[in-house]
Amino acid sequence: MTANSFKKYKIFISVLLTGFICLFLIAAGSLQAESPSGTTEQISNLPPMMPVPAKIEPVEGSFRLDEKFSVGGQAKPTSRAFKAVGRFMSRLAGHAGIFLEQDFLADQSLKTSTKFIYKFERVGQLEPDEDESYHLEITPEKVKLQSKTDLGLLRGLETLLQLLSVDSQGYYFPCLIIQDQPRFTWRGLLIDSCRHFMPLEVIKRNLLAMASVKLNVLHWHLSEDQGFRVESKTFPRLHQLGSDGMYYSQEQIKEIIQFASDLGIRVMPEFDIPGHSTSWLVGYPEYASAPGPYRIERKFGVFHPAFNPANPKVYDFFDKFFREMASLFPDPYLHIGGDEVEAVHWKENPQVQAFMKKHHLSDYQALQAYFNQEILKILTRYRKKMVGWDEIYQPGLPKDIVIHSWRGPQALVDGARKGYQGILSNGYYIDLCETAERHYLNDPIPPGSLLTPEEKKLILGGEATMWAELVSPETVDSRIWPRTAAIAERLWSPQEVRDVDDMYERLKVISVQLEETGVQHLKNQQMLLRRLISPAGSDLLKIGTLKAPFTIDKLEALQRLAAICEPVKGYARHNQGRTYTSLAPLTRFVDACFPESLEAREFRKIVKNYIEARQPETARKIINYLAGLYIIVPRIETVSEQIPSLKEIRPLADDLIHLSFIALYTLQLAEGGEKISNSWIETQKVMIQEIKKPKAECLLAITPAVELLLESLSSPGGK
Ligand code: ACM
Repeated sequence: MTANSFKKYKIFISVLLTGFICLFLIAAGSLQAESPSGTTEQISNLPPMMPVPAKIEPVEGSFRLDEKFSVGGQAKPTSRAFKAVGRFMSRLAGHAGIFLEQDFLADQSLKTSTKFIYKFERVGQLEPDEDESYHLEITPEKVKLQSKTDLGLLRGLETLLQLLSVDSQGYYFPCLIIQDQPRFTWRGLLIDSCRHFMPLEVIKRNLLAMASVKLNVLHWHLSEDQGFRVESKTFPRLHQLGSDGMYYSQEQIKEIIQFASDLGIRVMPEFDIPGHSTSWLVGYPEYASAPGPYRIERKFGVFHPAFNPANPKVYDFFDKFFREMASLFPDPYLHIGGDEVEAVHWKENPQVQAFMKKHHLSDYQALQAYFNQEILKILTRYRKKMVGWDEIYQPGLPKDIVIHSWRGPQALVDGARKGYQGILSNGYYIDLCETAERHYLNDPIPPGSLLTPEEKKLILGGEATMWAELVSPETVDSRIWPRTAAIAERLWSPQEVRDVDDMYERLKVISVQLEETGVQHLKNQQMLLRRLISPAGSDLLKIGTLKAPFTIDKLEALQRLAAICEPVKGYARHNQGRTYTSLAPLTRFVDACFPESLEAREFRKIVKNYIEARQPETARKIINYLAGLYIIVPRIETVSEQIPSLKEIRPLADDLIHLSFIALYTLQLAEGGEKISNSWIETQKVMIQEIKKPKAECLLAITPAVELLLESLSSPGGK
């Protein structure tokens, strides 16, 4: 299309839209006003909970909240339970805006007037298989929360907070009985602090968010080609030369472990060996398989450096190293990585070749298995159980290791059949910007699994994995939340809780609630966009400037565009013409976009409704929505001309014009009962294929819905 014909095209669509806008702007409801359409399996008058408890029995009535609300139980001041109850009370006061009279941080003793009574039998151990169940009973007079362990109490407090409801008379808890326990004992989030260093604050706010959805393992990825992130007193060159000065001191590690422990969360460290290990070898090249020297890796991928399994001094090194780390990290499990080991340096090293011959190691898997066996002996000496990615699975390993499946669920099944415990991360790679639906339906034990009940017990749970190649401390929360809440539900709630629409309805609410923990998944979008336009956006500072009706400013336009764009999926961002390194900026438009556009999902639902029922009101909704989107186009054009870093988003605006045209013209013809020529449809289909190609590393997420609309016309049922 030439510039001239493009201009005409825009004039045409503007005329088309103006007509539609005049006709429908007032009559039609906005997209956001669409009422929830998911079939709720939940008891419908309860507020949204996530994860859904195992058993809910609603009872008539409500417990009304006022400033006399008080808590009492047996927890000792400064204990985990006491602190958790104190936090709960503060959060409750904050949610309800109530000035509670009790000094709950000093005194939680039981009195006859106590409204909220908690009780637990013992302090829980932070290890798998610990009891996290709880029993919650709410009557109009009292709230009672009982559990075997204080961990159960913590989980129940989160449920109670989610139950806070409001009506015109104030805040209340609905009366009910909940008996709840997790389906899986291992419910984790991996945070990669290596590809990009994540300051303490990032870890803490994410721990709080994890606790709020009952996750209980922080898998902390602490060594990689791009960085070694823990202070080692035994081998100080590890953090001194391997981290660019960005590492956690041992004091900071202890602070995080204590912080997590107070939330009932285990902290399992991962030190990835023998591959993914460049940063270690910067300070200690003598343990490598090739001579070096080594530099901290800046690129992302799989690299050649690897420890030398044929060098006995390597095992002395790891003995001392793991002795130090085993005492720093109290968790009974330690993850040794073990993934994606490149054999290139092993092949080139005569010592390694001779070693393999001598020990009858026929291939590099066997060599890695030898290495793992030696590491296992060391970990066992320091009372740690070994966890590793599925590559570590080799015959002959003892049965108390844990296989962590990232390449596919089959490794988990195969392991369980042979008596190995396993955890699933395949399907929970939240860095890949897939939908919450995809993660939600990914079950560690899929329905219909042929495993025996004993084998099923070996599947301990799963972990969402936040690999950090393409996230910074500013954007990491938006890749973790809210989708990880859906994964948390998969790992906690009964298997039958699988209604996707219902999950999305609840996720919207939970996402906002999560902000209370400090996670910045929602608010940082506006911040990033604001910063993008600030060089030319002095108008942003004109606080109180009156706007003409029906106009939007640049920031609003960018936000509206971001709301319908998603970063490209999977690893595609690495193939868009730029080489990402740990030094690359992560402050572009694509970084501000959420992994999943909930607005596009909503739009698709409305389009599907229209295709099924052909209701004119639904057509109006679609038209109104597109009209609302179309008005951002001139603003996007302006910012993309004014601001160099936004130049790349101009094609998204052009695509939006095309898409709006296709949808509106299609609807106009469909509603008018006019026949549409096949050649027109075919031309638009070709156009849609072009629109589907990434622009600015983003996808316009409303495209598949417009494609559906178009296809509905060309299908046999179409007019
Ligand atoms: C992995 O993603 N290489 C564990």
